Amino acid sequence: MSNPDFGLKGDLTDTERKRMEKNLSHWEGNAAAHGSDHDASWGDGHAIELEIRNLMRFIEPDFRVLDAGCANGYTTFRILERDPGAVRAFDYSQTMVDAAKRAQSEKDPDGRIEFYHGNILEIAEKDGTFDAVYAVRVVINLPTWERQQEALREMHRVLKPGGRYLFFEAFEGSQRKLNALRELAGFAPLEAPEFNLYIEEEKLEEFVEPLFEIERIERFSSLYYIGTRFVRDLATTGDEPPSYDGPIHQLFADLETGPRSGDFGIQKCYVLKKR
Ligand SMILES: C[S@@+](CC[C@H](N)C(=O)[O-])C[C@H]1O[C@@H](n2cnc3c(N)ncnc32)[C@H](O)[C@@H]1O
Repeated sequence: MSNPDFGLKGDLTDTERKRMEKNLSHWEGNAAAHGSDHDASWGDGHAIELEIRNLMRFIEPDFRVLDAGCANGYTTFRILERDPGAVRAFDYSQTMVDAAKRAQSEKDPDGRIEFYHGNILEIAEKDGTFDAVYAVRVVINLPTWERQQEALREMHRVLKPGGRYLFFEAFEGSQRKLNALRELAGFAPLEAPEFNLYIEEEKLEEFVEPLFEIERIERFSSLYYIGTRFVRDLATTGDEPPSYDGPIHQLFADLETGPRSGDFGIQKCYVLKKR
């Protein structure tokens, strides 16, 4: 393993170290196998597009932005479309950082993004220097809720007063709701991968209260999950292996980006304003 100290000065317990080593080796393997492709971070390209679409709305021109756990930079390169003033991006997998740097000549020829090796538990940035910080499916890689809280404190530390932390993670409560739906049809519950620890919404909301105002919660993947983790299973025989590229994935990804509830109700009302 290229970086067994994880870029940390402080101590880890044996259990934490083992979990982080396992986690790191998962991401190192993904980086080696998939290079600059989105598969290095997740096979579900539609879900990733929904994340990016929602993330970009919060990046303003000239913002100083930090991407924590940037993987191979797949998302980082996309936010350049918003013309931020400066982007710094780090990951604790050196292989991911190397893949991001390799892709840079094509995707960021002017070198506007600074990629580096680092850990969200000890961010190598000064206090109060970013307008926006984000981590997309990163905090769930930390081994305990206590370590996840440390990451939240670190992201808070490097933000300017009034800056935003865009906390794009996976959540326990939503998974329970989805599993309740699946149970009605006799489907097995979905579980977090063993290298992840999903976030409990209630604990998060209580913890962040003194640090951050929760401005709103963007539930940008609700319909997509109903479609692809419930309707898809109803609509298929179960013989074919599930694919992230099937038509149901496209259909429900489109629903998320169109009118919020889709357009399936036969009755609707056009409100016609006289000219
Ligand atoms: C699901 S991928 C992230 C995808 C990426 N944010 C994107 O939007 O394309 C998770 C990444 O988090 C990184 N990671 C996990 N724990 C980390 C930590 N403690 N500090 C920094 N990066 C970490 C992994 O190496 C991996 O590249």
